[in-house]
Amino acid sequence: MLKVYNPEDQRRQDVQNGWWVIKKYNCMGCHQLQVGQRSVVMDLPFYQTPDGKDLLPPRLTSEGARVDPNWLLKFLHDPSLSGEKTPAQTQQINSAATQSSASPQASGSPPAGSQSALKLKAQPGFDRNGVRPYLNFRMPTFNFSPNELQTLVRFFMAMSGQQEPYIKEQLEPLSDQEKLVARQMFTSGTPCLKCHITGEPTHDARAIAPNFLLASDRLKPEWTFRWLLDPAQISPGTAMPSGLFRKEGDRWVVNLPNPPASANAYHNDHAKLLVRYMFLMTPDEQRQLLATAPVAPAAGAAIPAQKAENHAKARRRTIRFHHHRVSQLTSLSWNQAVRSSTRGPGM
Ligand code: HEC
Ligand code: HEC
Repeated sequence: MLKVYNPEDQRRQDVQNGWWVIKKYNCMGCHQLQVGQRSVVMDLPFYQTPDGKDLLPPRLTSEGARVDPNWLLKFLHDPSLSGEKTPAQTQQINSAATQSSASPQASGSPPAGSQSALKLKAQPGFDRNGVRPYLNFRMPTFNFSPNELQTLVRFFMAMSGQQEPYIKEQLEPLSDQEKLVARQMFTSGTPCLKCHITGEPTHDARAIAPNFLLASDRLKPEWTFRWLLDPAQISPGTAMPSGLFRKEGDRWVVNLPNPPASANAYHNDHAKLLVRYMFLMTPDEQRQLLATAPVAPAAGAAIPAQKAENHAKARRRTIRFHHHRVSQLTSLSWNQAVRSSTRGPGM
């Protein structure tokens, strides 16, 4: 039989193969994978409240467009991102990563123990979230075989209609002037670090979003750009504010009543500038941002930032209090949900 390579067929096949793995491990207990599908935990009462919905496991409806496939493979192998899995296991993954779709046996290493993987067993030191340590849910460290890992990565890429192979876009470094503009945009209006983790414990006690230092390894620039323009379209109900930029001619500019003067003087696309800035973020730069007081607008009255901040603090305190109590309840319901879940893949 003559077989003509057709990317559409390949994608359909990748999606189909992936669903078997997704079903086997019941990923849909915690995750939404398709628009309209609900995870089991989304229906728990606390996670339907405005505070609770920020603490759900991440939506995976745009995962393939969002993340770098190499990062995804590493994350699925070791969600703690700590590199604490045994060197033998890690080596196996690295060789799997380099032979994009080869069979796992080709590397000569024994297949990982997939027998025990069916249970969501606790692996002390392993079940830690490398990206969102503030969540009470933990992404389990599954013992995926190299084959299953490849299948999952291909699944997410196919679900998001991604081209393969993925070629990482090289972003242009920032000039000193651009750095200054980006810094000021990052700290004016709604300061970007407000909700995002920085690794600084006092600041992070209230964080509900990932560290920008992970961006360059983890994210795709194109998705990041779209996310900045309209996060609610990608993840309805997200705490990340929409409307941060508005269209001016053919470029996006910060949508502030009184933008910093440096931003007014910058005539390229503001959102694209922030993407490059995030992908080039360094620990030093982040520390500098944290030390920066909100930048005064070019003209007019400043926003009463202190008042807003106090309000946010009070809100977080209530969340944390409730969350503590709810988390015990949740782990109970979660275990029950896993045992009794008979949901289909929703295909
Ligand atoms: C007990 C709940 C739970 C189960 C079951 C679960 N996950 Fe997760 N998953 C999480 C949590 C919590 C995170 C956030 C981890 C982090 O941010 O470090 C996560 C993160 C992820 C991410 C990364 C998202 C991102 O962009 O950062 C992927 C991909 C993922 N899970 C896939 C899966 C797959 C595939 C399965 C099934 C094999 C699965 N998960 C099962 C809770 C779960
Ligand atoms: C009010 C809180 C809040 C503010 C302010 C905020 N974000 Fe976010 N941000 C979030 C949340 C919530 C997420 C999604 C977290 C998740 O996926 O679990 C997010 C996600 C992101 C992501 C994706 C990160 C990743 O690793 O997946 C980027 C990029 C981002 N935000 C950029 C920004 C920028 C730039 C600003 C300032 C202009 C900003 N954010 C301000 C709450 C916020």
